[in-house]
Parts: sequence; structure tokens; C-alpha cells
Amino acid sequence: MAISNDKHAVIWTRTKDGPLKMVDLIVTPQQTRFSYTREFIDYDASYSDKHLAGGVSLLAPPQQYKTEQVTYAAKDSIPLYPRLMSMLPARNENNIQRRLYTRLLEKSDSPPKPGLDTDWEILLLSAHNGIGHLDVFRDDLVAEHYYHDSGQRHLLTSRSAYWKQIQAEIQNTVCDIDSAELLDAFGPTPSVGGMIPKILVAIPDTSHWQGEFASPGTAEVDGVKYVDVILKIEPIGYEGVLALEAHCLELHQQLGFEVPPFWLSEIDGMRVLAVKRFDRSEQGCPIPMESFYSVFAIGDKYFQSNADTNLQELAYRIARIGKVANLDVRATQQELYKRLLVALFTGNGDLHLENLSFLGGAEQVKLAPVYDPAPMRAWSRHNTRFAVPLIFDDKVGGLRENMIKLGEAYQYTKKQAENLIEELAEKTKDYVFKIETLENVPEQNKTLLMKTVKAEREKLVL
Ligand SMILES: Nc1ncnc2c1ncn2[C@@H]1O[C@H](COP(=O)(O)OP(=O)(O)OP(=O)(O)O)[C@@H](O)[C@H]1O
Ligand SMILES: [Mg+2]
Repeated sequence: MAISNDKHAVIWTRTKDGPLKMVDLIVTPQQTRFSYTREFIDYDASYSDKHLAGGVSLLAPPQQYKTEQVTYAAKDSIPLYPRLMSMLPARNENNIQRRLYTRLLEKSDSPPKPGLDTDWEILLLSAHNGIGHLDVFRDDLVAEHYYHDSGQRHLLTSRSAYWKQIQAEIQNTVCDIDSAELLDAFGPTPSVGGMIPKILVAIPDTSHWQGEFASPGTAEVDGVKYVDVILKIEPIGYEGVLALEAHCLELHQQLGFEVPPFWLSEIDGMRVLAVKRFDRSEQGCPIPMESFYSVFAIGDKYFQSNADTNLQELAYRIARIGKVANLDVRATQQELYKRLLVALFTGNGDLHLENLSFLGGAEQVKLAPVYDPAPMRAWSRHNTRFAVPLIFDDKVGGLRENMIKLGEAYQYTKKQAENLIEELAEKTKDYVFKIETLENVPEQNKTLLMKTVKAEREKLVL
């Protein structure tokens, strides 16, 4: 008898009325298949706040599919349904969470094979209470235990084994913790993608944060209100990146963009940046959130990477999402075009498709607020103009003329695009001077960033 290689799991979500099963899921080396439960379809239809409603992906709306099966054909570069892939810690050896989960699995009784099997086990270990509203479990029993125990799970503090282990990984020191302890500390913790080490915690909602933190979802400690944040920890090799990111978050705020509150601080000698999560409602309910990358990779079988399009085509892809989801296409395109211009004026070459997301489900969705606007061009190995390329046409002119031309795809007239460039040039003119005054950023990175930004300004402004 052939042994089936099918993998089974379930996805649940947390509503204001409690946890609810969303889908049954099957993954094979060839495809991902899932179908919504009747309870979920009915509950989803009854939401009064449509922003909170939403299925596994914007392109798998429950009210359209109902109980019909959703299928995705695996490809080499993206073997799992892309929305699930985005819940895995990044596949690079510097990713702390991947390192720790892999180590845990290697020590288990039957370690999974490298590749899809390992990814699958990491997903089951860590894909709950992460970014967005999907919680993945091996089966319903595990889900029920998880929600039942969530009130009494270990409390996170800077003295917990979890934090000590993160600290040891970042500082490259040895932390003497055995695998049972490691499982206890990391088993229930969600993982987050991206390059910079980060964890999900709650911190006091006060203006002067001293580095205290607690488990995500904590609403209050000793009468002080807490908020859920994503906590980024500065890694060796990227000194100054968090100060630069905070500087750019502040600039976006001043320019009128929607930006989450943030706090720059130090914990145990490590520099950290906490950013308030916008994928949680004021009541703590998870809000669906999906990266552009996930949406495009689900909708397009040829899509391979988080920069696999060009800026003009990106505008048309957004317009196509507007045909299946309730999205204000024009507002989204125009907002994105402004972000692209600010990226040029600040030296943020890293606006790839995982640094842009949709917030909300298919029935009421919008562009997520600004996140990760770090000016990565301060590092020579990241010094590219745009992660998603601008198709440059010399016949149109230089950078200025090509950006103005690009504005058409984003529903701006030539005159409006020219005015925007003028306005943003004026409002960002002190940016380079402020970079110079930043503490904790190495001189060579400041110099490269200032030089790069000045050169771009010269090409953009008449
Ligand atoms: N304020 C926020 N609220 C909710 N989700 C967020 C927030 N900020 C970031 N995220 C999510 O966390 C992920 C990682 O965060 P972020 O992009 O800031 O980190 P990064 O490691 O610097 O990424 P990169 O690899 O692009 O440099 C994002 O892709 C996004 O899904
Ligand atoms: Mg990012």
C-alpha cells in the first residue's frame, strides 16, 4: 500500500465572539487545497465591521467560494499557498526564528526532511497569533488546547528564557537552555518574516518607554495600558538601521501618511524599535493582512519573487485587485505613487512587495499604513534605486521625466505629478541634514546615504 504524503492542517481565526474554525487544509508536493467551513462562511457574512471579515486570501473570498474547494498549484520557488509561505520565518541562515525552530525540530524524535517537510513543521509550530488573522494548527484538538491555554501561557519578560535565547542569538553567545525549555519558550510564539530579527510583544502605551515588554495580547500591567507591537532588534552588521528607520517613519508622518506610533529604545544593551501593530483592532481582534507579494503570487502562476514585476505593471495589478475586492483603486494607486516618490527622496530602495500590504478582507480592504521605510541605500550592498524596477525609457528623458510618465499609470496627470515632485522636494529638503545629526549611525553609511539622496534630488528637481 502506498503511504500518502498528504499533509493535513486546519486554519482558525479569533473573532470578537471567540475562536472559530475557518478551513480544512491539505498540502501535497503538487498542490495546496482548502475549503471553508459552513460556520465560518455564515459568521463572515454576519460581520457588521466588514474590515474585520476575510478569508485565507483576498483572492479566495469566502462569500464567493462558499464551501467549494480552493486550489493552488505548487511551484518550485513557492511550494505552499503563498499566504501560508508568508507566515514562515525567512529562508536565510541569519533568521533567528528559523534557526531556533530548525534546531528544535532536529532534536525531535522524528526530525523532518529539509525543505517542504521542515517548512511544514515550522508552520505548525509557529503560525498562530502572528501577522494578520490566520492561526494554523495540526488539527482541531491542538487548536482548542491552544486557545484554552492562551490565558495562562508563560509570561514574556526580559528575564524569560525566550528573551535570553534571542539575545544570545543576536550577540552570538551561547545560552545554556535545553531543548525542552526551548520548546516551552518558543513552541507557542509566532514567527515574523523579513530580514531584521523581530518578535511580537506588548509594551506600555506611554511616551517614555523603558524597554519593558510582555506577551502579545497583554492589555494592561499594574494599571498601565499595553499595546501590541512588532519589536525589531538591531543586528550586527546593520548598526544604525533602526535609528534611520525611525527617522523615516517620522518623516512620513510629517508628510501626512498614515504611520503607526513607534518607540526607539534599548533593552539589555541592544537597540530596538517597537512599532504599534495595525493588524489588531482597538479591542484586540486580528485584522486580515496580506502582502502584495502573496496576493500577486496567488493570482499569477508565473510569479516568483517579491520584486517580480515592474512599477508600471504594479499599478495595473492593483486595478485588477479592485475587480475582485472592495478596494478604492484610485486612492490606493495615488497613495502608492507618493510613497514611491518619497522612497526616491529618502534613499529607500527596499520598497519590495512584502513591504506593501493590503489591510482588511475582500469586502473592505485598503492599503496598509507605512511600515519598514528604512533607507537601505545607506548600505552599499542594498544601494539600488527601486526593489521593483522602473522600466526606464531614455526617449522619455531622465529620472524626473520617467517618474512623471509613470504617474499616468497611477492616475496622476503630468501637471499633478510635477506638482507632487515639487511639493515633496520642498518638504524633504532638510532630510539629508538631519541624517548628518543622527547618533549611532556609522559615518560611512551617513555619507553614502547623503550622497545618494543628493544625486537623486538633482535628477528629480528642475
Ligand atoms: N506595524 C505593523 N503592524 C502589523 N504588521 C507589521 C507592522 N510592521 C511590519 N509588519 C509585518 O511584519 C513584517 C516584517 O516587518 P518589517 O518589514 O518592518 O521587517 P524587515 O525585517 O525589516 O523586513 P525587510 O526584510 O523587508 O527588510 C512585514 O512584512 C509585515 O508583514
Ligand atoms: Mg520588510
